[in-house]
Amino acid sequence: MEALLCTRIGDPTIPISEASPIAVSTSHPVPEINSLTAVRVRICATSLNYANYLQILGKYQEKPPLPFIPGSDYSGIVEAVGGGVSRFKVGDRVCSFASLGSFAELIVVDQSELFLVPDGCDLVAAGALPVAFGTSHVALVHRAQLKPGQVLLVLGAAGGVGLSAVQIGKVCGAVVIAVARGAEKVEFLKSLGVDHVVNLSQESVLESVKKFLKSRNLKGVNVLYDPVGGKLMKESMKLLKWGAHILVIGFASGEVPVIPANIALVKNWTIHGLYWGSYKIHSPSVLEDSLNELLSWLARGLISINISHRYSLSEANLAFSAIKERKVIGKVMIVFEETSTRRSKL
Ligand SMILES: NC(=O)c1ccc[n+]([C@@H]2O[C@H](COP(=O)([O-])OP(=O)(O)OC[C@H]3O[C@@H](n4cnc5c(N)ncnc54)[C@H](OP(=O)(O)O)[C@@H]3O)[C@@H](O)[C@H]2O)c1
Repeated sequence: MEALLCTRIGDPTIPISEASPIAVSTSHPVPEINSLTAVRVRICATSLNYANYLQILGKYQEKPPLPFIPGSDYSGIVEAVGGGVSRFKVGDRVCSFASLGSFAELIVVDQSELFLVPDGCDLVAAGALPVAFGTSHVALVHRAQLKPGQVLLVLGAAGGVGLSAVQIGKVCGAVVIAVARGAEKVEFLKSLGVDHVVNLSQESVLESVKKFLKSRNLKGVNVLYDPVGGKLMKESMKLLKWGAHILVIGFASGEVPVIPANIALVKNWTIHGLYWGSYKIHSPSVLEDSLNELLSWLARGLISINISHRYSLSEANLAFSAIKERKVIGKVMIVFEETSTRRSKL
C-alpha cells in the first residue's frame, strides 16, 4: 500500500527527495487484522494538524521512534473485520484518530476506536473533525462550560482548532470574537456570522476588542481560547473579566506564555491546560460522547468543515507548507481519491 514515512527529523515542507525527512512508499506492507475485534479501514481522507508538522520537526511532546507513519485523524470505509467485530461491517463509513499512522491507504484499529459517520455527512469533512473540533468541544463545553451570552475570544481563529472553536461558540450561543491575520481570513470569519473579527494585520487586539465590548455594553471576555500563545495571549489577558476561563490549547507562535498567578488569584481566573489526545487514556467516555455529539451537529448542519487545501500523499510537502505559511483557513487534507480534480489552493 501507499504510505508516507518519516525517516528522519527535519523540515517536511522541502520537496520530497533524498534530502527530505519524508518519503512516499508504494509498497508498504498492508496492516493485518491482528485481533478478533480489529477493523481495517481504507482511508479516504486524513487531516493535517499543526502537531503533525511539529512532530516531524522533532518539536512535539510525543517523539515516536523512526521511521514512523505520521497522521492522526482520518475517515474511510471499513474494508475488513475480525471475527468478533459486532459494531461495524464491511462498507461502513467511519472516522477516528490515531496517535500515528493515518498518512497511509490502510489502517487497522480496534472497533472501540471507530465512529460511524452519519448519512449525509461528507466523508472527507468527517476526516477533519476529530482532532480540531474534538479539542474545541471538550475545551469549551466540557471544561469552560461556555454559556449563552458569554463572551468568547478565539485566537488563531481561522486555523484548524480556532475555526472549530468559533463555530462551537456560536452553537453554544456565545458572543464570539475572532482574531486572525489578513483580509481573506477576516472575510471568511465574518461570513460565519462571528460577532466581531480583529484583523491583526491592521489593528491591535486590545483596542479593537475594547471598542467592540463598549459598543455592546459588555464588560469583558468570559472565555479565552488560545492555540497561539506568545505576545497575543499576553495582550488578550488584559481583556478578561473576573471569573474568566483561560483555555491553553497550543503555542502556534512558538512562544509559551506566562500567566501571572497573582492576577489569576485576584481575578478568580480558571486556567485549563488541555491536551485532548490524553482524554483517550484518562477519560475516554468524555471524548467518545463529545465526538458523537459533534458528528450529530455535522449531520444537522450546525457545524461545517472548511477545507481550504487538498493534496495527494505525494504532495504532502505542499500540505505541510500550507500550514507553515499560515495559508490555511480551517483544514488542509490529504485525500486518497479525486485529489487532482478537487484540490483547491488559496
Ligand atoms: N491541546 C490540544 O489537545 C491541541 C489539539 C489540537 C491542536 N493543538 C495546538 O493548537 C495549535 C494550532 O493548531 P492548528 O492545527 O489549529 O494549527 P493551524 O491550523 O496552523 O492554525 C494556527 C493558527 O495560529 C495562528 N498563528 C499565530 N502565530 C503563528 C505562527 N508564528 N505560526 C503559525 N501560526 C500562527 C495562525 O493564524 P493567523 O495567521 O491568522 O495569525 C494560524 O491560523 C498548535 O500549537 C497545535 O499543536 C493543541
